[in-house]
Amino acid sequence: MRLTAPLKRELIDRARLARRRAYAPYSGYNVGAAVLTSSGRIYTGVNVENAAYPNGTCAERSAAFHAVGRGERSFVAVAVVTQNGGAPCGACRQVLSEFGPEMIVLIADGDGRLVRQLKLSQLLPYAFGPRHLVQR
Ligand code: THU
Repeated sequence: MRLTAPLKRELIDRARLARRRAYAPYSGYNVGAAVLTSSGRIYTGVNVENAAYPNGTCAERSAAFHAVGRGERSFVAVAVVTQNGGAPCGACRQVLSEFGPEMIVLIADGDGRLVRQLKLSQLLPYAFGPRHLVQR
């Protein structure tokens, strides 16, 4: 699965569209994410907050769990759209890494402008992963 320029655009656009459905009444910080898998499919997610604050979740994890629930196990790229080009939080980096340590991370702003592109391994160097648990 090659991440072409049109595919990058599509991934960002899908994250941007998804962002409209974010549920963030407490922070007001709406986030949309879209994961591209090895099968070529795209799965989106949004942040979902809760009146009991710690129960909310991020858009990236929401998208990752959406994909895994559909049987996907290998991620090629993720696009994250926020108002100001915020990067995925540490917990989301760890969850994404499980399914694609070398995946491409596209960080875009609310207008869909690409702010930064990097590999997940740059955002989460020396990641803990499945290989650390194989000897049992
Ligand atoms: N948020 C995400 O959805 N993704 C991130 O990587 C950073 C933070 C959400 C969580 C919360 O709903 C809001 O943004 C403010 O932290």
